[in-house]
Amino acid sequence: MLNKPDELLNEARASIDRSATEADIEAVRIGFLGKKGRLTAILRSMGDLNPDERKELGLRANRVRDEIEALIGEKKRAITAALRAERFSSEKLDVTEPGKGVSLGSRHPITRTIDEICRIFANMGYSVTEGPEAETVFNNFDALNAAPNHPSRDLTDTFYITEDILLRTQTSPVQVRTLRSTQPPIKVISPGRCFRADTPDATHSPMFHQVEGLLVDEGVTMADLKGALDAFAKRMFGNDVTTKFRPHFFPFTEPSAEMDMSCFVCRGKGCRVCKGSGWIEILGCGMVHPNVLRVGGADAERYTGFAFGIGVERIAMLKHGIEDIRLFYENDIRFIGQFA
Ligand code: DAH
Repeated sequence: MLNKPDELLNEARASIDRSATEADIEAVRIGFLGKKGRLTAILRSMGDLNPDERKELGLRANRVRDEIEALIGEKKRAITAALRAERFSSEKLDVTEPGKGVSLGSRHPITRTIDEICRIFANMGYSVTEGPEAETVFNNFDALNAAPNHPSRDLTDTFYITEDILLRTQTSPVQVRTLRSTQPPIKVISPGRCFRADTPDATHSPMFHQVEGLLVDEGVTMADLKGALDAFAKRMFGNDVTTKFRPHFFPFTEPSAEMDMSCFVCRGKGCRVCKGSGWIEILGCGMVHPNVLRVGGADAERYTGFAFGIGVERIAMLKHGIEDIRLFYENDIRFIGQFA
């Protein structure tokens, strides 16, 4: 009987050694030291012994209890430390590891150029409007005063969807739509896609972009046109460019002109960009033809106006020294990313 506590101590030590979790160790504690534990049972049974034996057994049992408690405490701390070490290593973060680069997208150079053109005119008080890419033959040609036999109407030049509907060949039909829906004064620009049945090469694409402009009011003259477009050229290409207007023909304007600006690369001396002439053609323009005003429902006696059309790809190519229009549509990230 007197050796019983020490036998229990050996058993407890073995159980504690085997314990791997906090639950295991708690079960050991309850099994030996709990109210119904095995060591507790020994202390309870001491009443049957004589006083000397009782004293000796009490001493031994209490020493063994202290020792088991100490062993349990030690093991608990070891389990907690092991758990923490495991958590630390699984949550480890190497702050010296090099970062992974995040690749940012960028707006397409055509989108950027359209935005830049629109911003310049918006700052001059123009509002932005848009028209559909699938347009009526009437709005794209007839209402714009194009002769019934005009070559651009040809099936080989224009994508027809039906006899009456086509993919617009220019943004100019937005002039007609705007005149029909709005009373002068009118001051709008309209960016968008245009389509022509051209074979792709370095300067042609069957899909391209224009920005159309239209200003209609009382007393508008060619001087207003020249002032607005000269201001545009300076804001787009730099304050030192100068402009000149060459007579031209468009069916929907009279008189019509093309605007050239002095070469912003060589400042007029002649270089590769301006093909030696010192001048670069950048847009078509003119005074709105009275027939267009009338078809649009504006009083052609009272109002005059000017219109212009800017080729977006051409402006972007000039500005960035791009020599092949097809680069815009190949969507090669190495090309597109350069304009961020
Ligand atoms: N629509 C013409 C074209 O595609 C460009 C143009 C020229 C627009 C003169 C205009 C303008 O509004 O007045 O070639």
